[in-house]
Amino acid sequence: MALYNDIVMDHFLNPKNVGEIDNPDGTGIYGSPVCGDMMQIQIKVEGETITDAKFKTFGCGSAIASSSMATSMIIGKTIEEALEITNKQIIDELGGLPPVKVHCSVLADKAIKNAIYDYAQKNNKYYKALEGYDPEADEDDEHGEVEE
Ligand code: FES
Repeated sequence: MALYNDIVMDHFLNPKNVGEIDNPDGTGIYGSPVCGDMMQIQIKVEGETITDAKFKTFGCGSAIASSSMATSMIIGKTIEEALEITNKQIIDELGGLPPVKVHCSVLADKAIKNAIYDYAQKNNKYYKALEGYDPEADEDDEHGEVEE
């Protein structure tokens, strides 16, 4: 299957961090306006560090690979560092996705931000990167463009 590289295939066939966290500190759900698929990401936070992350994806192989990679990327990072992660970085870590599949990585990006938003709301935390953030808002890249 030449469409996907080996890293994407590995994360698709052997996804990391699948499942749910008992008593998560934050839960983020995001549905793609492009394809209607959904993703849930949950996080555990100690101090300001994300100590665990798990996902459930009701989506395609690229969404599974993106969420596997994204959860792996945020574990061990601070909230501030995790908020800086873009879907472009997730794609880069995956070694690239076909252009028509770029929007699948946005699910992971948005689900992470929504999980952190949930954590911030529940704990009265302020993060500059979330100023004015709307968890319901759609990304601008509905046509599959890579966002910056
Ligand atoms: S096609 Fe919907 S997440 Fe990939």
